[in-house]
Amino acid sequence: MTYNEIRKLFLNYFESHGHKIVPSASLIPNDPTLLFTVAGMVPWKNIFLGFEDAPAPRVADVQKCIRAGGKHNDLEDVGFDGRHHTFFEMLGNWSFGDYFKEGAIEMSWDLLTNVIGIDPARLVVTAHETDDESAKIWKRVAGKDAIRLGKDNWWSAGDTGPCGPCSEIFYDFGENVPGGLPGTPDEDGGRYVEIWNDVFMQYNRDANGNLTKLPKQNVDTGAGLERWAAVLQGKFDNYDTDLFVNLKNAVSDVTGVHETDENKTSFKVITDHLRSVGFAIADGVIPSNSDRGYVIRRILRRAMRHGQLLGHNGALLSRLYPALVEQMGDAYPELRANATHVMEIITNEENAFADMLNNGLKLLEHELPKVSNGVLPGAVAFKLFDTYGFPLDLTQMILREKNLTVDTAGFESEMAAQKERSRADTRGTRVLWESRSELPATIDGAKYAPDENMESTVLAILRDGEFVENANDGDAVEVALDKTNFYGTQGGQTGDSGELKIGNNVVLNVTDAIRANNIVLHRGTVMGKISVGDKVHSVVNPQNRAATARAHTATHLLQAALRKVLNTDVEQRGSRVAPDSVRFDFSFGRAMTEAEKTAVENLVNEWINADMPVLHEEMPIDEAKKRGAMALFGEKYGDVVRVITAGDVSCELCGGTHVNHTGEIMRAKINKEKSISSGIRRITMSVGALA
Ligand code: ALA
Repeated sequence: MTYNEIRKLFLNYFESHGHKIVPSASLIPNDPTLLFTVAGMVPWKNIFLGFEDAPAPRVADVQKCIRAGGKHNDLEDVGFDGRHHTFFEMLGNWSFGDYFKEGAIEMSWDLLTNVIGIDPARLVVTAHETDDESAKIWKRVAGKDAIRLGKDNWWSAGDTGPCGPCSEIFYDFGENVPGGLPGTPDEDGGRYVEIWNDVFMQYNRDANGNLTKLPKQNVDTGAGLERWAAVLQGKFDNYDTDLFVNLKNAVSDVTGVHETDENKTSFKVITDHLRSVGFAIADGVIPSNSDRGYVIRRILRRAMRHGQLLGHNGALLSRLYPALVEQMGDAYPELRANATHVMEIITNEENAFADMLNNGLKLLEHELPKVSNGVLPGAVAFKLFDTYGFPLDLTQMILREKNLTVDTAGFESEMAAQKERSRADTRGTRVLWESRSELPATIDGAKYAPDENMESTVLAILRDGEFVENANDGDAVEVALDKTNFYGTQGGQTGDSGELKIGNNVVLNVTDAIRANNIVLHRGTVMGKISVGDKVHSVVNPQNRAATARAHTATHLLQAALRKVLNTDVEQRGSRVAPDSVRFDFSFGRAMTEAEKTAVENLVNEWINADMPVLHEEMPIDEAKKRGAMALFGEKYGDVVRVITAGDVSCELCGGTHVNHTGEIMRAKINKEKSISSGIRRITMSVGALA
């Protein structure tokens, strides 16, 4: 059975057992605790936590995942065996308070043995040491005694969040393969391979490790498609299955080299990395020097190094991408839809690094004879990093080929200052808020009509990294309410400022409203005293709100004008909408000319002067698509979306706040146009009084 056939078979099976089939969510999770979607359950986390409604009680999907960075990281292991991948596909079936252990185990067993026809004698099952119930079900359903394990039979996506005991199914490749049963010292030998994990999601773990019960008992299952393909195609090595054989052939075509025992690691690394890089960029990741952008840059550079080991210099993944589209584009249409963009980004990255790779290798050659104790000084590794763009793991990978290592402590100390800068954001407090899983999502529907003087209740106060019951005059705090009319930073639009009042007294001077997952945080300085349980009025600053709305509608006009003046391939890559000021990033391969800038600015002002009506509407996503509403690249949308239409020039999906007539914007002025990374330009623009 090929990959395409297995995906179909899995989804058909669960569809015929009452599951709603949904497409894979983005690799970029809506979750600040994770860099990438690391498992099929990530997109469903808020449903498990009770923050969002499930699309159906039973759902099945095939989810793209990346495990390269953070708690789930397989990057270093790729290439050395046949089982590790940074990118993989996870088949999954989900129950949101519907069936539980019995249903999950019965269906897994039925599909594997009755439908697919795997010999039951080849399957081994496990259950958590506390989970007698699952063990009993296995005995009844399969006649098997489950091996009982501790932490290996407990699953969570991150350090906090939904989790629960799990039960795994292993396939036995037979006694010719070395390796022991799960739970034995040589369990990683390769004979027994986990092919399915049924997780019984019933707890939420907070930052202190405490477990509380989730609102419902859920099932989260995950089955690695690459491993299923290996089992069903009778291959011991995932990289010998149809999809990878075809990708490896493409590597041979591009490099002119055939796979041998000596170079097979490079073939594995390149085909694996092609999938991570290609899929991540198709989902909107841009290689950069921080966070997920850096993970992707590192992976791309590792792939180039392996290309070089095959004697191939220069562009590699950009030339292999068409083969990826051919193999996987039917199952994942975004690969095809975004192909031009992806190849452009990869090509730019490869061009930028090709010379650096060679020059850096020369520096390394020069330094190596000086290495006495087998350890490269941290300062050299840092120079390679800083001057030649060698990620530390690339240097380590190259040194491993020569049995050398890096003084990582020395490297880290050189790096510390740099790291500190990129970490200085609001992430810390967001993670703290997310650990307060008992807090309900803030009801913020009133944000679109903020003039009402809304009354709400203070649910929690965060001061100096700690949750407190009261805060006093002068304290800098973040406050969560049960409901609010403040707009919390989202979709590039900055949050509202304003006041929380008790009677006529201002108790919090709100300078910003941000979001932690589904909670809107009112950030500001206490005046007098504020306590959990207080009833407060939330009053949005109307001038600030109006200035932000001007900037947001102007951003839509700017995008429409760029597409008209430059071309319709121009796509938004990011934006920051603040009071009367716009920063807009878009895909475009060169600097704009003065004439183009003037034409764009004139067009935006023409549309402002025409005072066109701006409609704010909610509608089902299908209807929005029918109207041709522009969606943001790589963004996940719900079933019902908000559509902002400005006259007949712009129609976009957007959750932001906007003016009612373009004339309110008054005027727009482009201040600057520059490059921010390869293939991406940035325009800054002022509107309103500022312009
Ligand atoms: N979430 C479970 C896993 O990733 C199914 O193994």
